[in-house]
Amino acid sequence: MNTLIDLTGKHILVIGASSGIGKQTAITLSSAGAKLTLVARTEANLIATLHELEGKGHAYCAADISELSGIEETVKQIIHKNGSLDGMVYAAGISMSMPLQMFKPEKLQSLFDVNFFAFVESVRQITKKGRYNPGMRIVGISSIASLKGDKTHLGYSASKAAMDAAVRCIAKEVAGKDICINTVAPGMTATGMLSRFTDNIGSNSESMKELKSRQYLGVIQPEAVAKTIAFLLSPAAEYITGITLPVDGGMTTC
Ligand SMILES: NC(=O)c1ccc[n+]([C@@H]2O[C@H](COP(=O)([O-])OP(=O)(O)OC[C@H]3O[C@@H](n4cnc5c(N)ncnc54)[C@H](OP(=O)(O)O)[C@@H]3O)[C@@H](O)[C@H]2O)c1
Repeated sequence: MNTLIDLTGKHILVIGASSGIGKQTAITLSSAGAKLTLVARTEANLIATLHELEGKGHAYCAADISELSGIEETVKQIIHKNGSLDGMVYAAGISMSMPLQMFKPEKLQSLFDVNFFAFVESVRQITKKGRYNPGMRIVGISSIASLKGDKTHLGYSASKAAMDAAVRCIAKEVAGKDICINTVAPGMTATGMLSRFTDNIGSNSESMKELKSRQYLGVIQPEAVAKTIAFLLSPAAEYITGITLPVDGGMTTC
């Protein structure tokens, strides 16, 4: 990490830091000097992430973010323990694929609870007076699925499109507080989520072959997404707000 992305002493909350992109993002941000607080459900995995971080002063808080009414208390505890925030990365997310006729309201609700409602509630809580420092940056992890449609993906795609739309609106509202907010939209990225998805549809299926041909730069490594997030959290991105930045190996050009 060069000095263009210097996050020395910045307190950044990473929600969804126990695996995949969130874990790698925490590691990358720590190498840029940030002090992290890690959140996810699985305590053992949060501790494993903690052990891979550079620097000192990091903390974790095991929490189920789909319990929306508990988010305020979690945020308060984090700030009490480690100070007000300079940034948040919302990397928690679940994937769910099923045909329209199986997408009953309760299924959609559980998907949206994690992918959308908890994101908005986390943003709402950390942007209250006394909980953030001037210049705070927020990055949500959306997906290229917000722009591309496919059968069985209606819930996942819609939850990510909702994130992107919310960010365009929130950006205008929080600009007066000196806060910037954006999303990144990764294409297929080498994490547990992609392995589960590939197992589901078959690694040699026509759908998988088509997806791979559209993402012509190849499967993305989590480090590449993490570096983009680090950029959006850094002073180098000072005039960027309200956008969705694809990190998609070329998929949106197809
Ligand atoms: N991998 C891809 O190809 C890809 C592509 C585009 C976008 N994305 C998005 O990137 C984000 C990260 O995904 P990933 O690929 O890194 O998957 P992952 O390895 O499965 O990570 C998901 C993270 O979300 C956390 N999480 C899930 N439900 C939670 C809950 N109720 N409360 C708290 N934390 C919760 C998980 O932690 P616990 O299980 O410990 O709670 C884990 O840390 C997701 O939003 C995903 O939609 C991924």
